Amino acid sequence: MSCGTALLMVMTFYDRLFVQDTKDGYNKPMTTKTAKLLDDLDWDFADTPMESGVHTIHPYPAKFIPQIPRQLIQLFPPKSNSVILDPFCGSGTTLVEAINTGLDTWGIDLNPLACLISRVKTTQLPQSLDFAAEATAQKARQCFTAGDVQIPSIPRLDHWFKPEVQQSLAALVTEIDREPTRAVREALQVTLSSIIVRVSNQESNTRYAAVENTYTAQDVFSQFKNAALTINRALLTLSDNLFRRLGHATVLNRDILAIKPEELPNNVGLVITSPPYPNAYEYWLYHKYRMYWLGMDPMEVREREIGARPHYFKKNAQDETDFEKQMHTCFQLLSQVMLPEAKACFLVGRSIIHGRVIDNATLLQRAAEPAGFIVKDVVTRNIPTTRKAFNPTHSKINREHLIIFGLQ
Ligand SMILES: C[S@@+](CC[C@H](N)C(=O)[O-])C[C@H]1O[C@@H](n2cnc3c(N)ncnc32)[C@H](O)[C@@H]1O
Repeated sequence: MSCGTALLMVMTFYDRLFVQDTKDGYNKPMTTKTAKLLDDLDWDFADTPMESGVHTIHPYPAKFIPQIPRQLIQLFPPKSNSVILDPFCGSGTTLVEAINTGLDTWGIDLNPLACLISRVKTTQLPQSLDFAAEATAQKARQCFTAGDVQIPSIPRLDHWFKPEVQQSLAALVTEIDREPTRAVREALQVTLSSIIVRVSNQESNTRYAAVENTYTAQDVFSQFKNAALTINRALLTLSDNLFRRLGHATVLNRDILAIKPEELPNNVGLVITSPPYPNAYEYWLYHKYRMYWLGMDPMEVREREIGARPHYFKKNAQDETDFEKQMHTCFQLLSQVMLPEAKACFLVGRSIIHGRVIDNATLLQRAAEPAGFIVKDVVTRNIPTTRKAFNPTHSKINREHLIIFGLQ
């Protein structure tokens, strides 16, 4: 039997054990119609067409299928004067779904690129993005032709970007920084970020292998303008219904472990989130060169990113007990800002650390209870096998758990 088959058998056995154990262990299940609805609903969304519009403007690892927060908002509708919070908002899927229902929402993320994408996805533009991109590309092309371009200092730049691609990207960055309207400038930054891996020598979003790249500087300017057209069209869907009141999104670029309750609204009516977890996805690494080009520091993010792989492979390495403590801090914060009847919905998968399978769902439960939470229900969903990560063992994990917590 191969190691892979053995591991799969252990994981399958473990999964059965987990579901049985935890289901039995939930001594206070929801007794209402909601519990039945929650269990009966389809959470796999295997046959649902791929989402289009604003959710697709920029890639992000392990982002929510929008139907998950959408269905949770319908199932646990918060009071109209409360807010929806995502303490690990990533690319802002929860925030988009919240504003579409007319509710105000708050998102927190350590990663500045995540926050940038979240803000852009939830902000209506005062002018057309494709016109702004056309003007930016035109000025950048002039600077490129005149050789008037300052290349930023980025590690291993020559390895990952051809010289003319470097010059065209640098010219675009300079011109974008000159855009005076913040919402337009940020939308242009997301546009640029969305094409960076494509025009680089990097093989794919989840593989740092250098490959031959045929893109010219002119191709970079064209890619930028085409991406702006697509993003502009997607952002227009935010305002396509005149009768719909959009909620307002506030995005905090912070480490969740350092936030005080006073910094958040104290009327959180629903929490929907998918937390980072040990040795799984690496958000700083996925976005490393995008961040460098936008003047952000991925290495600084890596230090504080919960679950990042390097934390588990160094002297005095972290393990799952550190994750439990980090999640406990997060639940303590939530318990102080949530309304008494509010639910906190966490979607989490398992991890593998040094060959050991880590049951993050049980760790979350252990972290939440001392902070005053009880598990109301749990559903297991299948993850599509197409989901990719830098960490190959993580790509093999095909189940995750949606845990609904309530305050005691
Ligand atoms: C699973 S992703 C969230 C994806 C999101 N649901 C979406 O749809 O895009 C987890 C997020 O946790 C963030 N994160 C990791 N450590 C953090 C910390 N200490 N404070 C705040 N956010 C953190 C990562 O940057 C990442 O965006």
